[in-house]
Amino acid sequence: MPKTVIVKIEDCYAQADVIEQAAAIIKSGGLVAFPTETVYGLGADAMNAAAVQKIFEAKGRPADNPLIVHVGNRDDVERVADEVSEKTWRLIERFWPGPLTLVLKRKPELPASVSAGLPSVAVRMPRNNIALELIRKAGTPLAAPSANRSGRPSGTFAAHVARDLEGRIDMILDGGATNIGIESAVLDMTTDPPMILRPGWITEETLADAVGTTERAVSQEDLYRSPGTRYRHYSPRAPVVLIEQSSCQSIEQLSRKYLEQGSVGLIGHTPVNVNDPNLYAIKLESSAYDYARSIYAALRELDEKDARVILIEGISESGEGAGVMDRLRRAASEIISHG
Ligand code: TXA
Ligand code: MG
Repeated sequence: MPKTVIVKIEDCYAQADVIEQAAAIIKSGGLVAFPTETVYGLGADAMNAAAVQKIFEAKGRPADNPLIVHVGNRDDVERVADEVSEKTWRLIERFWPGPLTLVLKRKPELPASVSAGLPSVAVRMPRNNIALELIRKAGTPLAAPSANRSGRPSGTFAAHVARDLEGRIDMILDGGATNIGIESAVLDMTTDPPMILRPGWITEETLADAVGTTERAVSQEDLYRSPGTRYRHYSPRAPVVLIEQSSCQSIEQLSRKYLEQGSVGLIGHTPVNVNDPNLYAIKLESSAYDYARSIYAALRELDEKDARVILIEGISESGEGAGVMDRLRRAASEIISHG
């Protein structure tokens, strides 16, 4: 078991020595967790099959769930992907660095395990200087899933990463809270029209506008294209009940009902008037922005409090809300629609 070195980074240029140390670990086949603009990633040299294997082991990730390759410049794209179309280059020009992952044709030189044996590869360039400096100094693209134990909520603070992976990875670069808080949108460019495999902070409308039209993965067959979406995800230990549309009354009633069975965690934007020491309420703004930034930390906090059940009040599906609601539905073991 490696001892995990955790280092705070305030300025990745002033602390170039720390980035050098992390890059040396990557070059020697080790694992480094680092911040991105979405969530923390767990990185290894994408070109080194043995290093990639360690990611699956550290996370307990099923081998058939492919990883995203993070690049530090445009040239890296052609190290891992073949036949990159004009349309793809236009998207890269417009959205990178940023929270958009593109699924492209995989180059044979990239270890097949990165893509779980698929003929494609998912690629993105993160909008975070620590991540970009690390990739550039390592001189290799980084295979990096979210830095959490498989199935758990993604990490938006270094402490979340440490909680899940300390003792299992070599280093954690602590760059503070991530900006966006939910993972990148995944757009499959190997189909025509391109297909949104995972909604994210860049909205469906914006993507459709950029590429003409897009489809949204909905059928079982579509979902097969994005193996990650088959698994239970983003889940705390307590079961999650998602209340899709709510009134203050319905949330209060539900809270009371569940309190009869034990402690209740409640994440929502509607104020509730329930005074019970067994109710742990985390109040958010109703915006997609606040939900995205706070949701994984809130789920983890309620786990630490040992809530028996976690109730989450949904938000509007429009715009960026779609990505947030996608994550909440996947975290939920029960979904309630109230009028
Ligand atoms: O924002 C993000 O994307 C974060 C940060 C760290 O960059 N990464 C992340 O990685 O969320 P992960 O491994 O938790 O999710 C990757 C998703 C999964 O749903 C996976 O199935 C999909 O991308 N994916 C990866 N490669 C793919 C491929 N070749 N074809 C289709 N889907 C792919
Ligand atoms: Mg993940």
